[in-house]
Amino acid sequence: MAFDLDMIKKVYANFGSRVDAARKIVGRPLTLSEKILYAHLWDGDPKKAFARGTDYVDFAPDRVAMQDATAQMALLQFMQAGRPQVAVPSTVHCDHLITAKVGAAIDLPNAKTESAEVFDFLSSVSNKYGIGFWKPGAGIIHQVVLENYAFPGGMMIGTDSHTVNAGGLGMVAIGVGGADACDVMAGLPWELKFPKLIGIKLTGKLNGWTAAKDIILKVAGILTVKGGTGAIVEYFGDGATNLSCTGKGTICNMGAEIGATTSTFGYDESMERYLRATNRNEVADEANKIKEYLTGDAEVYANPENYFDQVIEINLDELEPYLNGPFTPDLATPVSQMKIEAEKNGWPLKVEWGLIGSCTNSSYEDLSRAASIANQAIEKGLTTKSAFGINPGSEQVRYTANRDGFLKTFEDLDATIFTNACGPCIGMWDRTGAEKAEKNTIVHSFNRNFAKRADGNPNTFAFVASPEMVAAIAISGNLGFNPLTDTLTNNKGEQVKLDPPTGHELPEKGFAVEDAGFQAPAADGSGVNVLVSPTSHRLQLLAPFTAWEGTDLKGLKLLIKAKGKCTTDHISMAGPWLKFRGHLDNISNNMLIGAVNYFNDKTDTVKNETTGEYGPVPATQRDYKAKGLGSIVVGDENYGEGSSREHAAMEPRHLGVRAVLVKSFARIHETNLKKQGMLGLTFCDKDDYDKILEDDTIDILGLTTFTPDVPLTIVLHHADGSEEQFPVNHTYNAQQIEWFVAGGALNIIRREAAA
Ligand code: F3S
Repeated sequence: MAFDLDMIKKVYANFGSRVDAARKIVGRPLTLSEKILYAHLWDGDPKKAFARGTDYVDFAPDRVAMQDATAQMALLQFMQAGRPQVAVPSTVHCDHLITAKVGAAIDLPNAKTESAEVFDFLSSVSNKYGIGFWKPGAGIIHQVVLENYAFPGGMMIGTDSHTVNAGGLGMVAIGVGGADACDVMAGLPWELKFPKLIGIKLTGKLNGWTAAKDIILKVAGILTVKGGTGAIVEYFGDGATNLSCTGKGTICNMGAEIGATTSTFGYDESMERYLRATNRNEVADEANKIKEYLTGDAEVYANPENYFDQVIEINLDELEPYLNGPFTPDLATPVSQMKIEAEKNGWPLKVEWGLIGSCTNSSYEDLSRAASIANQAIEKGLTTKSAFGINPGSEQVRYTANRDGFLKTFEDLDATIFTNACGPCIGMWDRTGAEKAEKNTIVHSFNRNFAKRADGNPNTFAFVASPEMVAAIAISGNLGFNPLTDTLTNNKGEQVKLDPPTGHELPEKGFAVEDAGFQAPAADGSGVNVLVSPTSHRLQLLAPFTAWEGTDLKGLKLLIKAKGKCTTDHISMAGPWLKFRGHLDNISNNMLIGAVNYFNDKTDTVKNETTGEYGPVPATQRDYKAKGLGSIVVGDENYGEGSSREHAAMEPRHLGVRAVLVKSFARIHETNLKKQGMLGLTFCDKDDYDKILEDDTIDILGLTTFTPDVPLTIVLHHADGSEEQFPVNHTYNAQQIEWFVAGGALNIIRREAAA
C-alpha cells in the first residue's frame, strides 16, 4: 500500500478537537483552509488566533513530495542535515528529466540512459532515508500524488509549485523550496505566514464545451498572476460540488499561476468517489467519519464576505471556454473573441502544435473528453491540421486510457503519445525546428506559457486551454476556431461541426495498471550507500555556505537591474539546464541569463564594473567573486514568480551575490533567498528603483542591528561622485535573521543535529 493509513488516522484523531478549539479561540465560524491550518499547528492544540497576512506560524505538514529536478538539491541538502531517516512520509517522482521527442517507446529508454546517474542517485538516497521512489515513466508528481497520497484535510509540502494540485482532494498543499522540504524531512517545523483567504463561490454547472480548466482560466483573468499572492483560494458552492475531483485538481493546480499560496475545496462526494476508485476505501471511510470538519462551516459559505478577505462569484452556467496567452497565463480571452484578438495583436492564427498533458490536465477524465473530440473527428472525416501530442499523467492513467481505447483514438488521429512525464511543459521537448526561432503558435492544456518555456523559442506564442479545446483547435489548425459556432471542412468537402465533448469522470471498468513504477524504501537503510562521483558534471555534494561576516555590506557592485517580468525561469532557466539541477556550480552558469537588463534591454549582457566590458551575467558575477567583490541584483514586481526551485536563490548565493532588492517578491522565492542566507529586500518607495544607475556601487546599512520590522538602508554611490540613500523593507523574523547570520538555515540544522 503506497499511502500511509496510520498517519491519516493520526491526523483525523485530533482534527475535530483542534478545529473546535480554534473556532472557540477565533470566535467565529471557520473556513476549510483555517480548519486545516489550525489542525496542523506544530505546537498541537490551538492556543491563539493568528492574524492573516501578518503572523508567521509553525506548522507540521503530513507529507513531503519531491520531483526529480528539485529532489536532487533537496536531498543533497538533507544528506547534510545529519538525520538517519525522514521524519514524515516522503516521496520522489521522476518526471522532469524525460525529453519528449518521438514518443514514449523511444524517449523513455533514452532518458533512463541519459540521466541514469541522477535516477540512480535519487533511487539510492530514497532507499537509504525511507523515501518512496517513483521511477521514470511512473507519471507526473501531482497526478501520482492525487492518485495515491492526497487526502482530505491533510497538509503537504512539495518541492514544486504545482504541489497545490492536491487541493483537488481537499488538502492544503503548498509548493516550497528544497530547503523547506529538507527541514520537514529532518523533523523540524515548517514556517508560513498565516495566509489571507480568497473565497470563490461557484454556482451552476459546467456544460457544453466548458471544463474545469475554464474556471481557473477565468479566475486568472480576474486576479492576474499576482492576485492570489499570500492567500489561500477556497472554492465552494453548488458549482464546486458539481465538479469532479480531478477537475478540482486542475483548478487548484493553476492557483500557482495567480500566485496563490494554495487552493482547496471542501470534502464532498466527488472526492469520496475518487478515493474509492483509486483503491483508497479506507481513507474515504476515515474521512466520512469527520466529514463535517473537512469543509468550511455552513455560515461561512452562506455569508462569505464576512469571512474571506475577498470573494469572487462565478456562474458556471454562463461560463465560456477560454484561451489564455500568449506569454502569460492571465491574459484570458474567451474562445469566441480569440479570432478578433489574435488578428488585432498579430498572434499567428495557424497552430503548429496541440499538446495535451502536464500535471494540470492529464487525468483519465481529461483524456476521455479530449478523446471524444478526436473520435468525432475520425467519424466525421476530419484530420488534425496541427501536430498533436499527448502526455498521460501517470502510468495508471495511461494503462487505463489505453485499455479503454483513448490512446488508439489519438493515434488514429496521428497523435504522438509521449511519456507519462512533464515533457514539453518543462521545456523538455526536442521540437524539430525550434532552433530557427520562427514566430509560431502552439496551444496546450498546461499551466504555464512564459516565453521559451515549452521549446526554448522566444517566438513561440503558447496559449493555454482545456484538453478538449486543445483537441478541437489541433483538428482545425486555427487559433481563431470556435467549436461552439464554427464548422470545418471534412475529407468529402462537407461542412461539419464538432459536438460538445463527453467524457467519464472515472473509468467505468475501474483503474488498472500492471506496474505503477513504485519502489518502496529499504526497511533499514543504514547500510545503503549513496554514491556521488566527484567527477560527475550532474551531481555535486554541497559545501556549507559561509556565515555572515558581522558587518554592514559595503562596496557592492550592481550585477543587473532586471526589467519587467523576472520569473524563476528567467533566474534559473529550465529546459537544457535541468540536467544540472544536482550540481550547483554547473547550473550557476545559467544564473539570470533570461533576465532583461534595464540599461540595454538585452538578456545576459551586463556591464562588468571593474573592466567596463559587457558580458554574460554568470561570467561577470564569477569575475566579481574572483576579485572578492559582492554584488546586488535589483528587480521589478513579483520577482521570482513561477516555480519553487531554490536554485534561483542558491546560484546567486553560490556566486557571491549578497542581496536581491526588488519592488515585490513572489512568496516562495523570497523564502528561498532567506533559507540560503541571502538578503531579500523590497523598496519602501517603489520609485527608488529608478534611482539605481548602471555604474552604482551600493552599501547596505543596518545589518549589525538587523531586527524584525526595522527597515535597512541602501546607499547608492553614483559614478559622478554623488550619493543617495533610501530605506528598504524586509520581512525577516527573528529566526530568519538567525539564518542570515549563520549563512543559511541548513547550517543551523546541522549544528543542532551534531549537538
Ligand atoms: Fe511538470 Fe509542468 Fe507540472 S513541469 S510538474 S507538468 S507544471
